Amino acid sequence: MSTTKKKYPPSITFGLLLESMKNIFGMLSRAPEKYPDILMTGIPGIRRVYLVNHPDIAQHVLQKSYRSYPKAKGYEVLALLLGKGLVTNEGDNWHKQRTLIQPAFHRETLKRISSITVSSTNHLLNKWKGQEGQTINFTREMAEVTIDIVAKSLFTTDVNAKHIQTIWRNVNFLNESADALLRNPLHLPWFLPLPSYRKMRRYIAELDDIVYGIINKRKKEKNPPPDLLQLLLEARYEETGTGMTDLQIRDEVMTIFMAGHETTVNALSWTWYLIKQHKEVEDKLKEESLKVAGDRDPVFEDVPGLLYGKNVMNESMRLYPPVPVVGRNAKQDDELGAYFVKAGTEVAVNITGLHHHPAYWPEPFEFKPQRFDSFDMKGDNRFVFMPFGGGPRICIGNNFAMLEMQLINSMLSARVDMDLVSLDVKPKALITLKPDNGIVMQIKRVKK
Ligand code: HEM
Repeated sequence: MSTTKKKYPPSITFGLLLESMKNIFGMLSRAPEKYPDILMTGIPGIRRVYLVNHPDIAQHVLQKSYRSYPKAKGYEVLALLLGKGLVTNEGDNWHKQRTLIQPAFHRETLKRISSITVSSTNHLLNKWKGQEGQTINFTREMAEVTIDIVAKSLFTTDVNAKHIQTIWRNVNFLNESADALLRNPLHLPWFLPLPSYRKMRRYIAELDDIVYGIINKRKKEKNPPPDLLQLLLEARYEETGTGMTDLQIRDEVMTIFMAGHETTVNALSWTWYLIKQHKEVEDKLKEESLKVAGDRDPVFEDVPGLLYGKNVMNESMRLYPPVPVVGRNAKQDDELGAYFVKAGTEVAVNITGLHHHPAYWPEPFEFKPQRFDSFDMKGDNRFVFMPFGGGPRICIGNNFAMLEMQLINSMLSARVDMDLVSLDVKPKALITLKPDNGIVMQIKRVKK
């Protein structure tokens, strides 16, 4: 590769940089209008970040040359909580773990997850039945149901209400702390006795207690259930025939637990925020749910029939991608499109920008689920729409998440009458894209 020309991407304009300080999501979303391929941002002399807005360059980073682009340094912050689980692991070690864990997300697991989802959603709807007329934080409620679903999928047993409260509080705090650390170019060493670090350690230890408690209890069980934890405990590496260490299991369980609910909560929240502003979409969703399942609860086999529901989810994740960017680090000098990238540069694939790119999406800011009727997800579009990332490190839980969200949406649309209390919701781009302060709804009526 020739590095003589050293053409760098255009630098972010001052206006867009200012916007990014007030509203990162707005900057990510608007960036491709001025920079259809790539731009350079960061802090001159300290941290250089390339923001990728072109699908071919995204494919180069995430798929074709993925070994040259390991996860960004920032993921080390996440590793404080997730250890060497799939999200934060790298290289051969990651590959070994991914090969071992992938089969656990097979069809039988998805079938189990369907019935868990339906029963957890029924539980929520029964609770809401007693709250008719009341106002709820819909985002908080979705967290309760998705924590319940991922906990039962992993561990079968109930995670009690006190644990759910701890998980919700600790995960939110750790997510915000990780984000603050990621944005801070001066990483203070983790061993320093700073009050914020001490609180992070305490919160991680509390989550550890919950997870290790469950693993240890399971190891003593005579007839363990065939859940994800059991699949992890029984999995054996092909070359050695041995299983994972306790620490590796802890890291994978924590990873699946964390990755498996926060993104889904955000996706469901934004979806209902949008649905409630488009009555025709809600009517169509309800019509489809009733056509597919009638008065009964939906089952796994119904899901392929919930096609419109799938389009609604995709369109919502296009407008509000639950993971707004994915970050990598160039391991060696390379070329991205026409531009030179120096080893050590951070390269962030702008999922938000790609999803709002005017070259690929007519009326990019309109909510139009029907556009997915004719959108070819594979082929050339693979890196134009990628809520679950792309390349070998694509989300391992994408089928889990789609199934869960389609079933929840179908049940809510068929059985709940609710109103959005306020339209004034600000997107807050942390590692994930949250509705700041959550989506607030008033429950009017819940059908049994
Ligand atoms: C709407 C829901 C979800 C969205 C939008 C989402 C999005 C993503 C994205 C974009 C990545 C790639 C990150 C990167 O390349 O840096 C990822 C990775 C991952 N996700 Fe998800 N995810 C969702 C749900 C889930 C669920 C339900 C699970 C597990 C039950 C899960 C587990 C994981 C894991 C373990 C990884 C790391 C995979 C690897 O590197 O091998 N996710 N997810």
